[in-house]
Amino acid sequence: MKALVLAGGKGTRLRPLTHTSAKQLVPVANKPVLYYGLEAIRNAGITRVGVIIGDTGHEVRDAVGDGSMFGLDVTYIPQEAPLGLAHCVLIARDFLEDDPFVMYLGDNFLIDGITDLVDAFDAADHDAQILLTKVAEPQFYGVAELGPDGQIVRLEEKPEHPRSDLAIVGVYTFSPAIHEAVQAIKPSARGELEITDAIKWLIDTGHRVHSHFVNGYWRDTGRLQDLLECNRIVLERIEPGVMGTVDRLSQTTGRVVIEQGAVVENSIVHGPVVIGPDTKIISSYVGPFTSIGPNCMLQDSEIENSIILDGSSIHGVSRIARSLIGRNVEVNRTSRLPNTHQLMVGDHSKIQVSS
Ligand code: DAU
Repeated sequence: MKALVLAGGKGTRLRPLTHTSAKQLVPVANKPVLYYGLEAIRNAGITRVGVIIGDTGHEVRDAVGDGSMFGLDVTYIPQEAPLGLAHCVLIARDFLEDDPFVMYLGDNFLIDGITDLVDAFDAADHDAQILLTKVAEPQFYGVAELGPDGQIVRLEEKPEHPRSDLAIVGVYTFSPAIHEAVQAIKPSARGELEITDAIKWLIDTGHRVHSHFVNGYWRDTGRLQDLLECNRIVLERIEPGVMGTVDRLSQTTGRVVIEQGAVVENSIVHGPVVIGPDTKIISSYVGPFTSIGPNCMLQDSEIENSIILDGSSIHGVSRIARSLIGRNVEVNRTSRLPNTHQLMVGDHSKIQVSS
């Protein structure tokens, strides 16, 4: 069995971060989302992995390399434009050969991995297996409608009026029958070759398509609230450890990871929290569910339930919550009058000020 990991596409919902960076590399508990997927694939016993890359391909290549750090053998498959999930299968034909494979959307996050799913597919004789889970807002996903005995009766991609609350999770397993399907379908109204249409084609042409319910936690990390939730879930399970230094005036409680070279002075760190290598926390409060990347600086500030990426600094600001702060960002307080907010932010940024 092989794996096809989709790490191209556009990250419109996490702009401006994803203008320049791959959305699959946004960190959850200081580790790129994509790494969790690659580890899940490895844990399922798969080693040969094709990774679809787009405009941000160089970044994905830098982060994943030849895959050996995960125990994987990675082949990169460049996609000229994000022409759809089924298009990814089309261009991976040579890599996939006639092997069965698991297709993993690189921004999806499954806390319990994919081993059960892969084992179930191995044991059965299906042409496709999809994962389903109940969601509050099915209109943002592929949606399945099941018949009385659990068979799939309808699949729709992001329907305006969903007929069920069962979303299709971004992990699929396929037999080589999918190759005929992706060649048979036409682009959707949004101009993409939809994998949902290819699976529909399999059903309509009498192939065996099976659905499974996801029992554990699953999120598509494409939206801020989901990304923060994944961060919370992972931090709740993190193994605490202090490799950096914490001075006597500081207090740490709960699950706290302080990486090598990180310094905490005169501060309160209330876990679960992870503080990246060489980051400094000075006279500040770091509240639960916060991940601070490497080489950051937090001084006279308060933050909770947030993610900060590498090299950013925050001075004299309280209290930041439910925020995603990109790389090398500076947030400072000024006492200069007039009492205004001075902003220099990228396109598609979102800022909420409380006063
Ligand atoms: O997350 C689950 C959902 O994923 C499913 O419910 C939907 O049925 C499925 O279509 C998909 O919807 P999204 O709108 O979330 O897909 P997105 O465009 O975000 O792409 C998913 C991943 O695949 C993402 O890591 C980017 C990558 N991708 C996407 C496209 C369209 C590519 O590598 N190439 C592409 O052409």
